[in-house]
Amino acid sequence: MSDQYDVRDLSLAEGGRRRIEWAEQEMPVLHVVRERFSKEQPLRGARLSACLHVTTETASLMRTLQAGGADVVLCASNPLSTQDDVAASLVSHFEIPVFAIKGEDNETYYAHINAALDHGPMVTMDDGADLVSTLHKDRSEKLGGVIGGTEETTTGVIRLRAMAAEGALGYPVIAVNDAMTKHFFDNRYGTGQSTIDGIIRATNVLLAGKTFVIAGYGWCGRGLAMRARGMGANVIITEVDPLPALEAVMDGFRVMPMVDAAPLGDIFCTLTGDINVLDQVHFELLKDGAIISNSGHFNVEINIPALEEMANEKRRIRQFVEEYTLSDGRRINLLADGRLINLAAAEGHPASVMDMSFANQALSFEYLLQNADKLENKVYTMPEELDREIAHLKLEAMDIKIDSLTEEQEKYLSSWEEGT
Ligand SMILES: NC(=O)c1ccc[n+]([C@@H]2O[C@H](COP(=O)([O-])OP(=O)(O)OC[C@H]3O[C@@H](n4cnc5c(N)ncnc54)[C@H](O)[C@@H]3O)[C@@H](O)[C@H]2O)c1
Repeated sequence: MSDQYDVRDLSLAEGGRRRIEWAEQEMPVLHVVRERFSKEQPLRGARLSACLHVTTETASLMRTLQAGGADVVLCASNPLSTQDDVAASLVSHFEIPVFAIKGEDNETYYAHINAALDHGPMVTMDDGADLVSTLHKDRSEKLGGVIGGTEETTTGVIRLRAMAAEGALGYPVIAVNDAMTKHFFDNRYGTGQSTIDGIIRATNVLLAGKTFVIAGYGWCGRGLAMRARGMGANVIITEVDPLPALEAVMDGFRVMPMVDAAPLGDIFCTLTGDINVLDQVHFELLKDGAIISNSGHFNVEINIPALEEMANEKRRIRQFVEEYTLSDGRRINLLADGRLINLAAAEGHPASVMDMSFANQALSFEYLLQNADKLENKVYTMPEELDREIAHLKLEAMDIKIDSLTEEQEKYLSSWEEGT
């Protein structure tokens, strides 16, 4: 057992181990990577500080990196997303130091990030860039030892690109989120399904016949819209960018500003990476009993301080539902304190999509160790051949075969002479 950790309760470990085993059955690509890593030891001796949602799938990634020889420490990338039984199992069964407790306060959250940084990482693995920003702002004495990092999500990549643009980023980072085998599947199908799962587990509402307002028609929003429609909801999209807005219209959804959608919606979910997308002006217009939630990375998409100000009363009516009563008697139900609903109230993405996201993480780690000296302090996308390799492995695991180009086709596709 690792002697360094801060987890809820080690007696939960056995249940965590069984759930990790269950998830691993759906992670064949990561399994192939783990087998190779075990033989080749490409990560031998590399110290990693990882800040990820502590879930069964993350446990599988940590075990893969450990099998490759990495010296791994893990902390939570969100105060509400930790699965305490998984954290306990990683410590008890797999000798992996973990600093994560579901429901930890902000101070503990950052104390845990600092504990992970005490490890003196050569590589950082982040989901939302809280570890990287803490390292740069408060723990710069550790910066010199870092050769590179990886970033899992859209919001983190945006923050890191902003750091790089200001010349503030201290080492190269691979944007795992930008790999096609990540955002095409994880953000779209993973967030789509698990956000519905989180809303249903939190509320047990029937989606059929409800008006479901989705803010943001990016990768996550598209996935959620597709699945909400599939459950029989009438979906409305709000957007600020004309291109995805137009795409939503042509996909058959109603598109309108949030002030127009606010009085119509029964259920709301924000997935924008933006701030105050649901704000006081919208709370003024919501129906009695409206349910509001967020599945974007940070809990800033809903202006909770404004809601607190407006409310006369508040009570926790179910485990993940806070009912705010306004002065005119209307009730607004906020789910999971505005934090990622799919991770707070459900279990996050299903293992089958995390299989590809985390294969990207593992291969990016290996790539960084092999290439860091050639990279600048910028944000890089995964090399396309690694992306294709992961897609190929996933298809193979699903026993799906595809055609390959004939010599004639290869020649045709790379020439310009032949026309009509
Ligand atoms: N819940 C999860 O498990 C999960 C998984 C992946 C990503 N994420 C997070 O979800 C968020 C969205 O990710 P994505 O990959 O879909 O990003 P994206 O960039 O593909 O899409 C975001 C969309 O939101 C729109 N938008 C921005 N401000 C808006 C506003 N005020 N009103 C309406 N629309 C607005 C943008 O125009 C864009 O189309 C990010 O914070 C990301 O980190 C969460």
